[in-house]
Amino acid sequence: MADIMDKIVSLCKRKGFIFPGSDIYGGLANTWDYGPFGVELKNNLKRAWWKSNVYQRDDMYGMDAGILMHPKVWEASGHVENFFDLKSDCKSCKKRFKLVDLKNAKKCPECGGELTESRKFNLMFKTEHGSVEDNASLVYLRPETAQGMFVNFQNILDSRHPKLPFGLAQIGKAFRNEITPGNFIFRTREFEQMEIEYFCRPEEAEKIYESWVEERFSWYLNLGIKKDNLRKRQHTKDELAHYAKACTDIEYNFPFGWNELEGIANRTDFDLKQHAEYSGKDLRYFDEVKKERFYPYIIEPSGGVDRALLAFLVDGYFEEMVKDDLRVVLKLHKDLSPTKVAVLPLLKNRAEIVELAKKIAKDLKKTFITVYDDSAAIGKLYRRQDEAGTLYCVTVDVQSLEDKKVTVRDRDTMLQERISIEKVKEYLFEKLNRDSSVLL
Ligand code: GAP
Repeated sequence: MADIMDKIVSLCKRKGFIFPGSDIYGGLANTWDYGPFGVELKNNLKRAWWKSNVYQRDDMYGMDAGILMHPKVWEASGHVENFFDLKSDCKSCKKRFKLVDLKNAKKCPECGGELTESRKFNLMFKTEHGSVEDNASLVYLRPETAQGMFVNFQNILDSRHPKLPFGLAQIGKAFRNEITPGNFIFRTREFEQMEIEYFCRPEEAEKIYESWVEERFSWYLNLGIKKDNLRKRQHTKDELAHYAKACTDIEYNFPFGWNELEGIANRTDFDLKQHAEYSGKDLRYFDEVKKERFYPYIIEPSGGVDRALLAFLVDGYFEEMVKDDLRVVLKLHKDLSPTKVAVLPLLKNRAEIVELAKKIAKDLKKTFITVYDDSAAIGKLYRRQDEAGTLYCVTVDVQSLEDKKVTVRDRDTMLQERISIEKVKEYLFEKLNRDSSVLL
């Protein structure tokens, strides 16, 4: 099963989804760069999340807060005091281990060397803010996007006047100096989060928490994740973060085991109270009907973009034998596929065919993400598009010159239909737009 990961990492590099970071310099461990297909897949995934959590609801507001924030934010949030792992170093090979991973081992699991006493290791990246060295102040790269929404709670109330319950949604980079990053893009030090902070009356929090768990679980299923590969896991009391009263993880069955994709937490009124205390600002909500002022509870569905992307890649990866030939295909949901349509001429040395194919591609590009490719024989062109997850291949052949029709091949069924050139856009539009969660 683990070799599926090797195959996916290799496919990602070969096809231009994800490259090792700083590759020509020998790489920087556990950093990854998204290539042409990767960036499209990632953007589609974020768009699908934004559409279902912002555009399709009337109780949500989008945000994009800064990565750098006032250092007091992280004191108030508890990250300065509580956001650490216990680690131990090997005195011989210098390798660093998380204490939990050592499972009470007294010697280095790599070389048998002596281990140091365990020490706290804060996971926040530090940097300096300001151009004059002496006056520069210590700031952190945010380890979560959440705090950018809590500190803007009052701004949202003042500018948009929402009534409870309502939520904020944000997608952005977060940074954690993880002791043991790994498993490709599953755990990295720089990653992207998709977070919702949903503010509600304390007495409604439990019900709303449960409905978000269901809502977020369905989101992955609706985008094609197989039901058997997804499960919910409730945190035990001793697992809960310092701010949470309850938390449910949505886990995916990765080739390296069941692991967290997203967590939905009931953060109570911890965050607004903390920021009120540290900033000296009254962050209570005023209920005009009941004439009462109180701190709302916060329900937080928090997921990782890169982790979700990996789950969609793993779930969509298929190998099948077609006429003694190995076919590798990425069966990504149509909203996620980086390319929707490929136009392929059957014979590249027939100028009229090439000309017609290019003309069709140019026209389809106005409506769908479309590529034109004539750089190989048709069998090879199909395989290339299958590996990239392209949904439809439109083939132009000799007959197309006479009957003004093209062959449209469906990625998943491999069925081919002959469609008139005049109708091909309408045909694809109907197929691609049906129940789509993303505007094309
Ligand atoms: N605001 C709450 C919060 O940040 P978290 O469980 O620490 O909660 C939320 O992170 C999500 O962010 C995780 O479920 C995971 O998908 C993603 N994530 C966290 N650390 C990550 C890492 N080092 N690399 C990639 N994704 C990560």
